[in-house]
Amino acid sequence: MRHALVTGATGFIGRHLVRRLLSEGMAVKCLVRPQSRVEHLDGQDVAFVQGDVSDTSSLQRAMQDVDVVYHLAGLTKSVSSRDLMELNHKGTRNVSLACSRLVSQPTLVVVSSLAAAGPSVGSQQRVEADEVNPVSHYGHSKRAGELAAMEFATEVPTTIVRPPIVMGEYDLDVFQWFQMVRKFGFHLAPGFVNYHYSMIHADDLASALILAADRGGRLTGNVEDNAGIYFAACEEVMTYSDLGRLIGDCVGRPHARMVHAPMLMVWGLALGCDLWSRIKKSPTLFNLDKAREAAAGAWACSADKLRSHTGFEPAMSLENRLRQTAEWYIQEKWL
Ligand SMILES: NC(=O)c1ccc[n+]([C@@H]2O[C@H](COP(=O)([O-])OP(=O)(O)OC[C@H]3O[C@@H](n4cnc5c(N)ncnc54)[C@H](OP(=O)(O)O)[C@@H]3O)[C@@H](O)[C@H]2O)c1
Repeated sequence: MRHALVTGATGFIGRHLVRRLLSEGMAVKCLVRPQSRVEHLDGQDVAFVQGDVSDTSSLQRAMQDVDVVYHLAGLTKSVSSRDLMELNHKGTRNVSLACSRLVSQPTLVVVSSLAAAGPSVGSQQRVEADEVNPVSHYGHSKRAGELAAMEFATEVPTTIVRPPIVMGEYDLDVFQWFQMVRKFGFHLAPGFVNYHYSMIHADDLASALILAADRGGRLTGNVEDNAGIYFAACEEVMTYSDLGRLIGDCVGRPHARMVHAPMLMVWGLALGCDLWSRIKKSPTLFNLDKAREAAAGAWACSADKLRSHTGFEPAMSLENRLRQTAEWYIQEKWL
Protein backbone atom coordinates (compact mmCIF):
# COMPACT_ATOMS: atom_id res chain seq x y z
CA MET A 1 0.00 0.00 0.00
CA ARG A 2 1.28 3.49 -0.88
CA HIS A 3 1.41 6.15 1.82
CA ALA A 4 0.59 9.84 1.44
CA LEU A 5 1.05 12.82 3.73
CA VAL A 6 -1.31 15.74 3.19
CA THR A 7 -0.53 19.20 4.58
CA GLY A 8 -3.62 21.44 4.66
CA ALA A 9 -5.83 18.34 4.93
CA THR A 10 -8.33 20.16 7.17
CA GLY A 11 -8.85 22.90 4.57
CA PHE A 12 -11.37 23.11 1.74
CA ILE A 13 -9.27 21.43 -0.98
CA GLY A 14 -7.55 19.13 1.50
CA ARG A 15 -10.82 17.47 2.48
CA HIS A 16 -11.60 16.65 -1.14
CA LEU A 17 -8.09 15.32 -1.73
CA VAL A 18 -8.11 13.11 1.39
CA ARG A 19 -11.41 11.53 0.35
CA ARG A 20 -10.09 10.88 -3.15
CA LEU A 21 -6.79 9.38 -1.92
CA LEU A 22 -8.67 7.02 0.39
CA SER A 23 -10.95 5.95 -2.44
CA GLU A 24 -7.83 5.11 -4.47
CA GLY A 25 -6.61 2.81 -1.69
CA MET A 26 -3.83 5.03 -0.32
CA ALA A 27 -2.94 5.14 3.37
CA VAL A 28 -3.30 8.81 4.36
CA LYS A 29 -1.59 10.81 7.09
CA CYS A 30 -2.86 14.33 7.73
CA LEU A 31 -0.57 17.00 9.17
CA VAL A 32 -2.54 18.84 11.84
CA ARG A 33 -1.84 21.58 14.36
CA PRO A 34 -3.21 21.66 17.92
CA GLN A 35 -5.85 24.20 16.79
CA SER A 36 -6.81 22.36 13.56
CA ARG A 37 -10.51 21.50 13.18
CA VAL A 38 -10.06 17.77 12.64
CA GLU A 39 -13.78 17.04 13.05
CA HIS A 40 -14.04 17.75 9.30
CA LEU A 41 -12.14 14.52 8.77
CA ASP A 42 -14.00 12.49 11.40
CA GLY A 43 -15.05 9.03 10.34
CA GLN A 44 -12.37 8.83 7.65
CA ASP A 45 -9.69 6.20 7.91
CA VAL A 46 -6.77 8.61 8.26
CA ALA A 47 -3.89 9.02 10.72
CA PHE A 48 -3.27 12.42 12.28
CA VAL A 49 0.30 13.62 12.81
CA GLN A 50 1.04 16.77 14.75
CA GLY A 51 3.15 19.30 12.90
CA ASP A 52 3.40 22.76 11.45
CA VAL A 53 4.92 23.88 8.17
CA SER A 54 6.94 26.45 10.11
CA ASP A 55 8.70 23.61 11.96
CA THR A 56 10.94 21.51 9.70
CA SER A 57 11.65 18.79 12.26
CA SER A 58 7.91 18.19 12.79
CA LEU A 59 7.60 17.83 9.01
CA GLN A 60 10.48 15.34 8.85
CA ARG A 61 8.84 13.22 11.54
CA ALA A 62 5.50 13.34 9.71
CA MET A 63 7.13 12.29 6.43
CA GLN A 64 8.62 9.02 7.73
CA ASP A 65 7.66 6.11 5.41
CA VAL A 66 5.67 8.35 3.08
CA ASP A 67 5.73 7.85 -0.72
CA VAL A 68 4.01 11.10 -1.71
CA VAL A 69 3.67 14.45 0.07
CA TYR A 70 0.79 16.66 -1.08
CA HIS A 71 1.58 20.15 0.15
CA LEU A 72 -1.63 22.19 0.32
CA ALA A 73 -1.15 24.17 3.56
CA GLY A 74 -1.23 27.82 2.64
CA LEU A 75 -2.88 31.18 3.16
CA THR A 76 -5.17 32.54 0.44
CA LYS A 77 -5.90 35.81 2.25
CA SER A 78 -4.39 37.56 5.22
CA VAL A 79 -4.33 40.80 7.16
CA SER A 80 -0.61 41.18 6.40
CA SER A 81 1.50 40.39 3.35
CA ARG A 82 4.21 39.16 5.73
CA ASP A 83 1.95 36.31 6.90
CA LEU A 84 1.34 35.33 3.27
CA MET A 85 5.10 35.13 2.63
CA GLU A 86 5.71 33.32 5.90
CA LEU A 87 3.34 30.48 5.11
CA ASN A 88 3.33 30.31 1.31
CA HIS A 89 7.06 30.85 0.80
CA LYS A 90 8.80 29.67 3.98
CA GLY A 91 6.22 26.91 4.60
CA THR A 92 6.86 25.47 1.13
CA ARG A 93 10.62 25.85 1.58
CA ASN A 94 10.42 23.93 4.88
CA VAL A 95 8.39 21.14 3.27
CA SER A 96 10.97 20.78 0.46
CA LEU A 97 13.84 20.96 2.93
CA ALA A 98 12.26 18.27 5.15
CA CYS A 99 11.79 16.00 2.09
CA SER A 100 15.44 16.53 1.10
CA ARG A 101 16.66 15.46 4.55
CA LEU A 102 14.97 12.05 4.42
CA VAL A 103 16.97 8.94 3.55
CA SER A 104 14.54 8.16 0.76
CA GLN A 105 12.85 11.23 -0.79
CA PRO A 106 9.10 11.10 -1.37
CA THR A 107 7.49 12.62 -4.45
CA LEU A 108 6.37 16.14 -3.56
CA VAL A 109 3.32 17.79 -5.13
CA VAL A 110 3.12 21.50 -4.33
CA VAL A 111 -0.24 23.24 -4.75
CA SER A 112 0.56 26.69 -6.05
CA SER A 113 -1.89 29.00 -7.83
CA LEU A 114 -2.62 30.73 -11.12
CA ALA A 115 -1.93 33.88 -9.06
CA ALA A 116 1.76 32.85 -8.97
CA ALA A 117 1.85 33.04 -12.77
CA GLY A 118 -0.28 36.16 -13.15
CA PRO A 119 -3.26 37.29 -15.22
CA SER A 120 -3.96 36.25 -18.81
CA VAL A 121 -4.44 38.49 -21.84
CA GLY A 122 -7.79 38.97 -23.61
CA SER A 123 -9.56 35.65 -24.10
CA GLN A 124 -6.24 33.75 -24.30
CA GLN A 125 -5.57 31.06 -21.73
CA ARG A 126 -2.25 31.21 -19.92
CA VAL A 127 0.14 28.32 -20.60
CA GLU A 128 3.07 27.18 -18.50
CA ALA A 129 5.65 28.57 -20.94
CA ASP A 130 4.32 32.14 -20.53
CA GLU A 131 6.45 34.54 -18.54
CA VAL A 132 5.30 34.83 -14.93
CA ASN A 133 3.88 38.14 -13.74
CA PRO A 134 2.25 37.93 -10.29
CA VAL A 135 0.31 41.10 -9.42
CA SER A 136 -0.79 40.56 -5.80
CA HIS A 137 1.00 39.89 -2.51
CA TYR A 138 -0.69 36.49 -2.57
CA GLY A 139 0.62 35.78 -6.08
CA HIS A 140 4.15 36.87 -5.14
CA SER A 141 4.09 34.65 -2.05
CA LYS A 142 2.93 31.62 -4.08
CA ARG A 143 5.61 32.31 -6.72
CA ALA A 144 8.21 32.56 -3.94
CA GLY A 145 6.99 29.14 -2.75
CA GLU A 146 7.47 27.75 -6.28
CA LEU A 147 11.01 29.14 -6.44
CA ALA A 148 11.77 27.66 -3.01
CA ALA A 149 10.61 24.22 -4.22
CA MET A 150 12.87 24.61 -7.29
CA GLU A 151 15.91 25.04 -5.02
CA PHE A 152 15.49 21.41 -3.90
CA ALA A 153 14.43 19.99 -7.26
CA THR A 154 17.62 18.01 -7.86
CA GLU A 155 17.17 16.19 -4.54
CA VAL A 156 13.37 15.97 -4.26
CA PRO A 157 11.19 14.83 -7.20
CA THR A 158 8.74 17.73 -7.23
CA THR A 159 5.72 18.73 -9.31
CA ILE A 160 3.90 22.05 -9.02
CA VAL A 161 0.18 22.32 -9.78
CA ARG A 162 -1.36 25.77 -10.30
CA PRO A 163 -5.14 25.87 -9.96
CA PRO A 164 -7.26 28.91 -10.85
CA ILE A 165 -10.38 29.67 -8.72
CA VAL A 166 -11.39 26.45 -6.96
CA MET A 167 -15.03 25.80 -6.12
CA GLY A 168 -17.00 22.96 -4.63
CA GLU A 169 -18.66 21.59 -1.53
CA TYR A 170 -17.40 23.14 1.77
CA ASP A 171 -15.95 26.22 0.00
CA LEU A 172 -16.80 29.53 1.66
CA ASP A 173 -15.26 31.88 -0.92
CA VAL A 174 -17.00 31.20 -4.27
CA PHE A 175 -20.01 30.46 -2.04
CA GLN A 176 -20.38 34.25 -1.60
CA TRP A 177 -21.21 34.55 -5.32
CA PHE A 178 -23.92 31.88 -4.99
CA GLN A 179 -25.24 33.63 -1.88
CA MET A 180 -25.41 37.07 -3.53
CA VAL A 181 -27.21 35.77 -6.60
CA ARG A 182 -29.64 33.68 -4.54
CA LYS A 183 -30.39 36.44 -1.99
CA PHE A 184 -30.34 39.56 -4.14
CA GLY A 185 -30.78 38.28 -7.69
CA PHE A 186 -27.69 39.98 -9.04
CA HIS A 187 -24.03 39.16 -9.67
CA LEU A 188 -21.51 41.90 -8.95
CA ALA A 189 -18.62 42.29 -11.41
CA PRO A 190 -15.57 44.50 -10.80
CA GLY A 191 -15.28 47.09 -13.57
CA PHE A 192 -16.97 47.22 -16.97
CA VAL A 193 -14.83 44.77 -18.93
CA ASN A 194 -16.20 41.26 -19.09
CA TYR A 195 -12.97 39.36 -18.40
CA HIS A 196 -12.51 35.60 -18.85
CA TYR A 197 -11.90 33.25 -15.94
CA SER A 198 -10.94 29.62 -15.45
CA MET A 199 -12.22 27.54 -12.57
CA ILE A 200 -11.90 23.99 -11.30
CA HIS A 201 -13.96 21.86 -8.94
CA ALA A 202 -12.05 20.60 -5.89
CA ASP A 203 -12.72 16.94 -6.84
CA ASP A 204 -11.24 17.50 -10.30
CA LEU A 205 -8.29 19.25 -8.70
CA ALA A 206 -7.83 16.25 -6.39
CA SER A 207 -7.68 13.98 -9.48
CA ALA A 208 -5.17 16.37 -11.08
CA LEU A 209 -2.93 16.26 -8.00
CA ILE A 210 -2.95 12.46 -7.87
CA LEU A 211 -2.17 12.23 -11.60
CA ALA A 212 0.57 14.83 -11.21
CA ALA A 213 2.18 12.68 -8.50
CA ASP A 214 1.85 9.45 -10.50
CA ARG A 215 2.58 10.56 -14.06
CA GLY A 216 3.62 14.20 -14.01
CA GLY A 217 6.97 15.62 -15.02
CA ARG A 218 9.30 16.95 -12.31
CA LEU A 219 10.98 20.29 -11.71
CA THR A 220 14.54 20.52 -13.03
CA GLY A 221 15.72 23.30 -10.73
CA ASN A 222 16.16 25.69 -13.64
CA VAL A 223 13.82 28.64 -13.06
CA GLU A 224 13.61 29.33 -16.80
CA ASP A 225 12.30 25.81 -17.38
CA ASN A 226 8.60 24.99 -16.91
CA ALA A 227 9.09 21.20 -16.71
CA GLY A 228 7.13 19.83 -13.76
CA ILE A 229 4.71 22.79 -13.64
CA TYR A 230 1.05 22.37 -14.63
CA PHE A 231 -2.11 24.42 -14.67
CA ALA A 232 -5.15 22.37 -13.60
CA ALA A 233 -8.47 23.81 -14.77
CA CYS A 234 -11.78 22.99 -16.39
CA GLU A 235 -11.76 23.26 -20.16
CA GLU A 236 -14.44 25.95 -20.24
CA VAL A 237 -13.45 29.57 -19.76
CA MET A 238 -16.25 31.92 -18.68
CA THR A 239 -16.86 35.61 -18.34
CA TYR A 240 -18.27 37.04 -15.13
CA SER A 241 -21.62 37.48 -16.93
CA ASP A 242 -21.69 33.81 -18.02
CA LEU A 243 -20.87 32.75 -14.49
CA GLY A 244 -23.54 35.00 -12.96
CA ARG A 245 -26.18 33.68 -15.37
CA LEU A 246 -25.21 30.07 -14.71
CA ILE A 247 -25.12 30.48 -10.95
CA GLY A 248 -28.53 32.21 -11.20
CA ASP A 249 -29.87 29.20 -13.08
CA CYS A 250 -28.44 26.82 -10.48
CA VAL A 251 -29.89 28.65 -7.45
CA GLY A 252 -33.36 29.31 -8.85
CA ARG A 253 -32.71 32.88 -10.05
CA PRO A 254 -32.78 32.39 -13.83
CA HIS A 255 -33.07 36.13 -14.47
CA ALA A 256 -30.14 37.19 -12.27
CA ARG A 257 -28.79 40.56 -13.35
CA MET A 258 -25.18 41.52 -13.87
CA VAL A 259 -24.18 44.65 -11.95
CA HIS A 260 -20.87 46.27 -12.92
CA ALA A 261 -19.19 48.19 -10.11
CA PRO A 262 -16.85 51.01 -11.27
CA MET A 263 -13.24 50.26 -10.33
CA LEU A 264 -13.12 53.36 -8.11
CA MET A 265 -15.92 51.85 -6.05
CA VAL A 266 -14.11 48.46 -6.01
CA TRP A 267 -10.92 50.09 -4.67
CA GLY A 268 -12.96 51.99 -2.07
CA LEU A 269 -14.69 48.83 -0.91
CA ALA A 270 -11.35 46.98 -0.83
CA LEU A 271 -9.80 49.74 1.29
CA GLY A 272 -12.77 49.61 3.69
CA CYS A 273 -12.48 45.83 3.97
CA ASP A 274 -8.72 46.09 4.56
CA LEU A 275 -9.19 48.59 7.38
CA TRP A 276 -11.96 46.49 8.90
CA SER A 277 -9.80 43.34 8.75
CA ARG A 278 -6.97 45.19 10.51
CA ILE A 279 -9.34 46.34 13.25
CA LYS A 280 -10.80 42.83 13.62
CA LYS A 281 -7.35 41.23 13.16
CA SER A 282 -8.96 38.69 10.87
CA PRO A 283 -8.85 38.60 7.05
CA THR A 284 -11.90 39.50 4.97
CA LEU A 285 -12.75 37.69 1.74
CA PHE A 286 -12.26 40.88 -0.29
CA ASN A 287 -9.37 43.28 0.34
CA LEU A 288 -6.83 45.46 -1.48
CA ASP A 289 -4.82 42.41 -2.54
CA LYS A 290 -7.89 40.82 -4.14
CA ALA A 291 -8.73 44.19 -5.77
CA ARG A 292 -5.23 44.16 -7.33
CA GLU A 293 -6.09 40.81 -8.89
CA ALA A 294 -9.54 42.00 -10.00
CA ALA A 295 -8.01 45.08 -11.63
CA ALA A 296 -5.33 43.07 -13.43
CA GLY A 297 -7.79 41.61 -15.95
CA ALA A 298 -8.54 38.05 -17.02
CA TRP A 299 -7.52 34.91 -15.13
CA ALA A 300 -7.73 32.04 -17.58
CA CYS A 301 -5.35 29.11 -17.97
CA SER A 302 -5.10 25.97 -20.07
CA ALA A 303 -4.78 22.43 -18.67
CA ASP A 304 -3.62 21.07 -22.06
CA LYS A 305 -0.13 20.24 -20.81
CA LEU A 306 -1.49 18.37 -17.78
CA ARG A 307 -3.93 16.54 -20.05
CA SER A 308 -1.26 15.48 -22.53
CA HIS A 309 1.28 14.42 -19.85
CA THR A 310 -1.06 12.66 -17.41
CA GLY A 311 -4.41 12.03 -19.14
CA PHE A 312 -6.20 14.48 -16.82
CA GLU A 313 -9.87 15.07 -17.66
CA PRO A 314 -12.37 16.83 -15.38
CA ALA A 315 -15.16 14.39 -14.51
CA MET A 316 -17.89 16.88 -15.53
CA SER A 317 -18.40 20.13 -17.37
CA LEU A 318 -18.01 23.36 -15.41
CA GLU A 319 -21.76 23.94 -15.74
CA ASN A 320 -22.53 20.58 -14.11
CA ARG A 321 -19.95 21.21 -11.39
CA LEU A 322 -21.59 24.57 -10.59
CA ARG A 323 -24.96 22.85 -10.50
CA GLN A 324 -23.68 20.09 -8.23
CA THR A 325 -22.10 22.64 -5.88
CA ALA A 326 -25.31 24.73 -5.74
CA GLU A 327 -27.35 21.61 -4.97
CA TRP A 328 -24.99 20.80 -2.10
CA TYR A 329 -25.24 24.35 -0.68
CA ILE A 330 -29.03 24.12 -0.85
CA GLN A 331 -29.16 20.61 0.63
CA GLU A 332 -26.83 21.62 3.49
CA LYS A 333 -28.95 24.76 4.03
CA TRP A 334 -26.02 27.10 3.35
CA LEU A 335 -28.33 28.78 0.83
N1 LIG B 1 -9.24 27.91 -2.73
C1 LIG B 1 -8.81 28.34 -3.89
O1 LIG B 1 -9.60 28.89 -4.69
C2 LIG B 1 -7.38 28.15 -4.29
C3 LIG B 1 -7.00 28.50 -5.60
C4 LIG B 1 -5.66 28.31 -5.99
C5 LIG B 1 -4.75 27.78 -5.09
N2 LIG B 1 -5.14 27.46 -3.82
C6 LIG B 1 -4.13 26.91 -2.92
O2 LIG B 1 -4.59 25.65 -2.44
C7 LIG B 1 -4.13 25.42 -1.12
C8 LIG B 1 -5.28 25.03 -0.22
O3 LIG B 1 -6.25 26.07 -0.27
P1 LIG B 1 -7.65 25.97 0.53
O4 LIG B 1 -8.60 26.85 -0.18
O5 LIG B 1 -7.99 24.55 0.79
O6 LIG B 1 -7.22 26.69 1.89
P2 LIG B 1 -7.92 26.61 3.33
O7 LIG B 1 -9.28 26.03 3.27
O8 LIG B 1 -7.77 27.98 3.91
O9 LIG B 1 -6.97 25.61 4.13
C9 LIG B 1 -5.69 25.97 4.53
C10 LIG B 1 -5.04 24.77 5.18
O10 LIG B 1 -3.69 25.13 5.53
C11 LIG B 1 -3.45 24.68 6.87
N3 LIG B 1 -2.43 25.49 7.54
C12 LIG B 1 -2.44 26.83 7.71
N4 LIG B 1 -1.33 27.20 8.39
C13 LIG B 1 -0.60 26.07 8.62
C14 LIG B 1 0.64 25.81 9.26
N5 LIG B 1 1.38 26.79 9.79
N6 LIG B 1 1.06 24.52 9.33
C15 LIG B 1 0.32 23.53 8.81
N7 LIG B 1 -0.86 23.71 8.19
C16 LIG B 1 -1.32 24.98 8.10
C17 LIG B 1 -4.80 24.83 7.56
O11 LIG B 1 -4.80 24.01 8.70
P3 LIG B 1 -5.54 24.37 10.09
O12 LIG B 1 -6.80 23.57 10.11
O13 LIG B 1 -4.56 23.97 11.13
O14 LIG B 1 -5.80 25.87 10.07
C18 LIG B 1 -5.74 24.32 6.47
O15 LIG B 1 -5.79 22.92 6.48
C19 LIG B 1 -3.40 26.69 -0.69
O16 LIG B 1 -2.02 26.50 -0.82
C20 LIG B 1 -3.91 27.75 -1.67
O17 LIG B 1 -2.93 28.77 -1.88
C21 LIG B 1 -6.42 27.63 -3.40
